Amino acid sequence: MNCFSCCKTDVETSAYKKERSKYVSKGRRTFKSLAAAMSLKTGSSRHRQITAEILKYGTAQNDVKVLTYEEVVDATNNFSSDCLIGVGGFGNVYKGYIKSIEQTVAVKKLNRDGDQGTREFFAEVLMLSMVKHPNLVRLVGYCVEDDQRILVYEHMANGSLENHLLDIGNDKEPLDWQTRMKIADGAARGLEYLHNSADPPIIFRDFKSSNILLDENFNAKLSDFGLAKIAPREGEGLVSTRVMGTYGYCAPEYAATGQLSSKSDIYSFGVVFLEIISGRRVIDPARSAEEQNLIDWAQPLFKDRTKFTLMADPLLKGQFPVKGLFQALAVAAMCLQEEADTRPYMDDVITALTHLAVHKTEEKDIAGESLKIAGHVESFRAANSIGSERA
Ligand SMILES: Nc1ncnc2c1ncn2[C@@H]1O[C@H](COP(=O)(O)OP(=O)(O)OP(=O)(O)O)[C@@H](O)[C@H]1O
Ligand SMILES: [Mg+2]
Repeated sequence: MNCFSCCKTDVETSAYKKERSKYVSKGRRTFKSLAAAMSLKTGSSRHRQITAEILKYGTAQNDVKVLTYEEVVDATNNFSSDCLIGVGGFGNVYKGYIKSIEQTVAVKKLNRDGDQGTREFFAEVLMLSMVKHPNLVRLVGYCVEDDQRILVYEHMANGSLENHLLDIGNDKEPLDWQTRMKIADGAARGLEYLHNSADPPIIFRDFKSSNILLDENFNAKLSDFGLAKIAPREGEGLVSTRVMGTYGYCAPEYAATGQLSSKSDIYSFGVVFLEIISGRRVIDPARSAEEQNLIDWAQPLFKDRTKFTLMADPLLKGQFPVKGLFQALAVAAMCLQEEADTRPYMDDVITALTHLAVHKTEEKDIAGESLKIAGHVESFRAANSIGSERA
């Protein structure tokens, strides 16, 4: 859910208006105006408009299909509750099967009225048409018949990271350390593609564990591009925007001023990575007051390396490499720095994570065993010194 609606601030500064007029003068319209235009149009002219809009922003990378309402109804057994696999801020999500393309899909049906929902719908269609990467969920198609707004994605057999990390009931095994690092690595690669390889570059803006989906082999793919923004190009300054996103995951400078940059995504990555390491939700009202906010809880622990192992998820039952834990915490700490400029870029994060994802757990490096070996601390010093910069 987008929980920032209570503190939305319109920060259309004059600098922003100047920036924006540059875009408009280049023929680029905002999604807001696109959404407004779209809602006045009927079926086929809407589709033509979407295609034209994609060409204006970049190049279509995907064969996103236009689906009829009938096809979607058929795929989901008329949105039967048996097919319901999730409920989000946008609407219900159903599992379905599209016969014409012989594909199992996830169908997201917009249940929100008003501009915001429509804007997010079209932003999602545009963004996902322009990007292609193994770590981004694929948009199979969409349906905009009459008042219906429906998005159809590839189905991700293991649902969201949130389901496996933070919402685990008795029916699921906790994720092991290697799988956690693999998921972090995949999600980081998706983000890195958006920042550095997508054309135009994209700021994701809603990076959180429920938006990281997992396939049958626990490969991670990012989903939910409704809030994504086209990043300013070199020398074009920051994007100023209404603060949207999910409370707890937003970078402090973005939450305070609406100044958005790709470094805001890096902070959100740090939050999710800390959730992955600790198994704790960024905001958890069920915990005692001093432990409700994950970042506040972690601050003092980051400063004391003897406490690092306390930050590991108890559900791991000590089955993690201590060296790997220290390095992972160092990466999280770098991403979570208050000062946006001092956070790393996603390619630096990937370099660090690639090592963690392939790091094999040796017996002596398992927590409990390894902690008895004084020498191992030396080898973590480099990583730890980065972590303590945050102090
Ligand atoms: N492509 C998909 N494949 C399989 N399951 C999916 C897919 N997309 C969404 N889901 C399931 O539906 C749930 C709801 O997703 P949705 O994106 O609508 O909401 P959310 O991410 O939980 O919250 P928000 O609305 O703030 O993004 C997810 O947590 C996931 O379990
Ligand atoms: Mg989502």
